[in-house]
Amino acid sequence: MINIGLIGTGYIGPIHLNALARVGGVRVKRVADVNGELARKAAADYNIEQAGTDWREVVRDPGIDVIHNCTPNKYHFEINREALNQGKQVFTEKPLSMNLKEADELVNLAEKKKAVTGIGFCYRYFPVVQEMAARVRRGDAGAVRLATGTYFQDWLSREIDWSWRLLPSESGQSNITADLGSHWFDLVQFATGLRVTRVFGDLATLLPVRRRPKRQVIAFEKVEQVESEEVKVELEDYSAVLFRLSNGAAGSFTTSQTCAGRKSDTEFQIYGSKASFAWNHKDATVLWIGHREKPNEILIENATLQDPATARYATLPAGHPQGYHDAMMNMFRDYYDDLQGRNPPRAAPRATFTTGREEMKILAAVLASHKAGAWMEVEE
Ligand SMILES: NC(=O)c1ccc[n+]([C@@H]2O[C@H](COP(=O)([O-])OP(=O)(O)OC[C@H]3O[C@@H](n4cnc5c(N)ncnc54)[C@H](O)[C@@H]3O)[C@@H](O)[C@H]2O)c1
Repeated sequence: MINIGLIGTGYIGPIHLNALARVGGVRVKRVADVNGELARKAAADYNIEQAGTDWREVVRDPGIDVIHNCTPNKYHFEINREALNQGKQVFTEKPLSMNLKEADELVNLAEKKKAVTGIGFCYRYFPVVQEMAARVRRGDAGAVRLATGTYFQDWLSREIDWSWRLLPSESGQSNITADLGSHWFDLVQFATGLRVTRVFGDLATLLPVRRRPKRQVIAFEKVEQVESEEVKVELEDYSAVLFRLSNGAAGSFTTSQTCAGRKSDTEFQIYGSKASFAWNHKDATVLWIGHREKPNEILIENATLQDPATARYATLPAGHPQGYHDAMMNMFRDYYDDLQGRNPPRAAPRATFTTGREEMKILAAVLASHKAGAWMEVEE
């Protein structure tokens, strides 16, 4: 049995716990959160033996094999580094770190320790997103010419809406490009097998003044009238990025958390010389395939119709829709498959700390581009 210690039981921590309960050969033994009440609730909800407030106790526990890091960005570096130094395997939430320097150090340390790492790019794990990657990578789209899409949310659309993501001290030099951009660029690189090589970023803070609650707010929590103070916001809540892929293909991406009515509304489209592929989180079971000279196709997730490398992600009989919890479960099954040496066939390599560092390189280039008002190369 593989023993897991999970740190951070706010929004995403319990989502990990829910999914891990359906992964064979593992059990979560300890959770920790600086907010002890949240840790105790998570432990009670998921039958976990120990709940505490100090992440160091979890990371230094010799009975723990794997650390799941579900804390805000600020703590990713310190916790991941200490976990690796303690000889643990590490699955971290995205983004990998606050900046590229930290990302480099984590990747180098993980290599030195020969650790099996993972990172929470969960949108890859919808069965038809996997299928898109298999088909585009085997050439069904022909030469990729264009990648485009959006990621809109509305949970930070009012001045009273708040998240630690708005603070450079907690989030790093970016709010939404790091938060949602990392997911979106991961989808494009995963589906196409191509790298983002150049970017032109335009960022804006659409709500430059907000009310910061005087108590802790968990992501997506409903906050109405609580005691709060006015703060100036430095980080962007809007980001638009023009980009090029490594084969010369063009691309564009727009994201904001201020779009009333848009929840976790993301979509991406790949246009190639032979065919087009599109996926939208609102219809997460559906892969749209577009043709020029024959009728378009709709593939609904279905193990019997998918590529052998992606069929295992469609875990329910066709017609029974899978969702976000199932994508998370697929992601963890994939990680623990590797940890247990099973190495199943895949449409594309699994996301690791190295993938997280690639995303930090894109982020660094977008931030530099916005500052300079010019196109920037993404470091190789
Ligand atoms: N993969 C995804 O789809 C996804 C979705 C949401 C968030 N995330 C990522 O997960 C991370 C957490 O985001 P969230 O939305 O859950 O935030 P959150 O604020 O809802 O939860 C974070 C939790 O960490 C706890 N915490 C803070 N500092 C800590 C410390 N030093 N030790 C222990 N616990 C600590 C907080 O008390 C809180 O309960 C972020 O990096 C975010 O980017 C990923």
